[in-house]
Amino acid sequence: MVTSIRNGMPMTDTDGKVLHAHGAGFLEDNGFYYMFGEVREGDKRVACYRSRDLMTWEFRNVVLRLSSERKPYYVRTELDMDSKGRGANIERPKVIYCEKTKQYVMWMHYENGHDYNAACCAIATCDTPDGNYVYRGAFRPAGNMSRDCTIFKDKDGTAYFISTGRDNADMCVYRLSDDYMAIDEQVKALWPGQYREAPAVFERDGKYYMLSPMCTGWNPNQGGVSYANSIEGRWSAIENFGDAVTYNTQPTYVLKLGDNYIYVGDRWDPTDYDNSGYVFLPIFFDEDGKCSIEWQDEICFDMATKTYRTASAESNDVRIMTDEFTSYLASDGYDVFASRLSYKDERLIWNLLPKGNAFLLVNKRSGRALRNDGVMREVSGDTNMLWNIEEEDGGMRLVSCESGKALNARGRRIIISDKEDRFGRIRIVKAY
Ligand code: GAL
Repeated sequence: MVTSIRNGMPMTDTDGKVLHAHGAGFLEDNGFYYMFGEVREGDKRVACYRSRDLMTWEFRNVVLRLSSERKPYYVRTELDMDSKGRGANIERPKVIYCEKTKQYVMWMHYENGHDYNAACCAIATCDTPDGNYVYRGAFRPAGNMSRDCTIFKDKDGTAYFISTGRDNADMCVYRLSDDYMAIDEQVKALWPGQYREAPAVFERDGKYYMLSPMCTGWNPNQGGVSYANSIEGRWSAIENFGDAVTYNTQPTYVLKLGDNYIYVGDRWDPTDYDNSGYVFLPIFFDEDGKCSIEWQDEICFDMATKTYRTASAESNDVRIMTDEFTSYLASDGYDVFASRLSYKDERLIWNLLPKGNAFLLVNKRSGRALRNDGVMREVSGDTNMLWNIEEEDGGMRLVSCESGKALNARGRRIIISDKEDRFGRIRIVKAY
């Protein structure tokens, strides 16, 4: 029996197997929470698990495969999922139940398995939540490109498909037909040119919330939230949500548990997709209904009272971003370089040891500190190991106390040079 979720880690199902349901969507049905998500193994594309307590997940079925039955319907769609034998990438599947047709309808992001140029949404349907879904094809909603997406069913049963359009520049909102199978009308193209992705929408006390991070591929970035009084109404400008890397997550869904709202995020591992973990964090609301999250190492749910408990330990571990979200300062012995983000790689973890107003930059793996000539050495009291953190517009600089030179990155190379030589902004983020 699983009694809590360790945030950020891969999860296992009741058979002890690694649970693959990335970019997950949830559906409450007949006393169960169903979780649908991505699986990339052979011809498996969407897996379904179910749980009564949100912690213990029973594998139910691979509900969508490359070889799934396909059936056209009144929307003109591309039914060949395995286009040109290149397979297909199916991302962020979300299922809603249609009372009118008694069908479970899955909306998802479709790509051709080779690149991200198809930019389509796709639909599949089933009579039961966890049966074999019938693939109904891929298409571009209202002719628009469509990538990261979600579904939101409003209180009156009106459903909306929300996805990024125009090469991710816009966040488009589409009202669905009453069978949830077609676009009724495009009602919004929000924040044109702001490149948001991974939307998650929820409603609380008549207020609507849309979470969306920036667009940086698998790498986490500063999340955002926007507010509205109705889905089709005016959405506010985007405000920050979570820390500079949204605690190393990207939103995928917001769950309701009694009066509580639980943020569900993916911790995509950019170097190992199958190592991607899950994060469940309670959402807090202030008096004006503004929302926030804080990191918690662990969370457990009590279904009788529909509440949760969390636990967290203090840690000084940080990662140091050497450019805009895609690379991090790493050390392997005596050298330093910029590396892709990997959650398994301790070479990317650092401790900032305070010395007066300055810091020693100590690598967790080697225990050595960064000297101002860019070499790692045993920790000493020498001032050439002392660094200042200077805050600057939207970022930080690491500046040697002794030489006044700053740490810059060019590709994988770390350069310690004049502050004006600026190849990228440094950002220090907690390594949750
Ligand atoms: C992310 C997106 C993921 C996946 C990935 C591919 O931005 O949120 O769902 O599409 O890009 O690079």
